[in-house]
Amino acid sequence: MDTLEAIRTRRAIRAYDPDHRISDAELRTLLAAARMAPSAFNVQHCRFVVVKDPALRRELRKVAWDQSHVTDASVLVVLCADRDAWKEDPARYFNGAPDAVRQQMAEMITRYYEGREWVQQDETMRSCGLAAQTLMLAATAMGYQSCPMDGFDFEAVGKLINLPPNHVVAMFVVIGKGTQEAAPRVGKLPDSEVILTDRFPSR
Ligand SMILES: Cc1cc2nc3c(=O)[nH]c(=O)nc-3n(C[C@H](O)[C@H](O)[C@H](O)COP(=O)(O)O)c2cc1C
Repeated sequence: MDTLEAIRTRRAIRAYDPDHRISDAELRTLLAAARMAPSAFNVQHCRFVVVKDPALRRELRKVAWDQSHVTDASVLVVLCADRDAWKEDPARYFNGAPDAVRQQMAEMITRYYEGREWVQQDETMRSCGLAAQTLMLAATAMGYQSCPMDGFDFEAVGKLINLPPNHVVAMFVVIGKGTQEAAPRVGKLPDSEVILTDRFPSR
């Protein structure tokens, strides 16, 4: 499947075959693809919590409006992010590059993030959003269906997965064998409303 076809055919699917198993090899392929997603300064804020324990999946479903895909999809990934990733030995994000580059990039990372709490927070969501879409497109290319989700109690989810301090939960992505066709796409806004050239019209 080419990339544009994967983009066009990916849909949010909400009913899954609970008996379908995604193999460990397939899961590794999916996660390896997600890990190719870009992140600012290569800081890789995203942490992928793959929930394999069925009892924990049931607990998560309870705090996610009882949405059946939380337990029925073959894979549930809770995408989290480390808000402090920028200050955890930032030179390591350029390991393999010459030492001068590693040092220069570490200094740039510190200058960019230090004291800018909103950037620290926003970057976690940018990184997780890109990783989530990459994960879902990889799933589509592999013949699976998926759904991004944030219909859950973030605090309760954090407690259930033992979220470390200074980490945030961004969203769930479920992946599996869908048992329902997607409904036709509805409600897409006109291009004229969402695509602009150069700038917004002056008010
Ligand atoms: C951040 C985010 C959170 C979402 N949360 C849920 C959710 O909790 N449950 C659900 O069934 N769908 C959820 N969706 C799916 C959207 O409803 C769906 O993507 C949207 O209606 C467009 O449909 P499409 O993805 O098939 O194009 C979420 C999507 C995003 C991007």
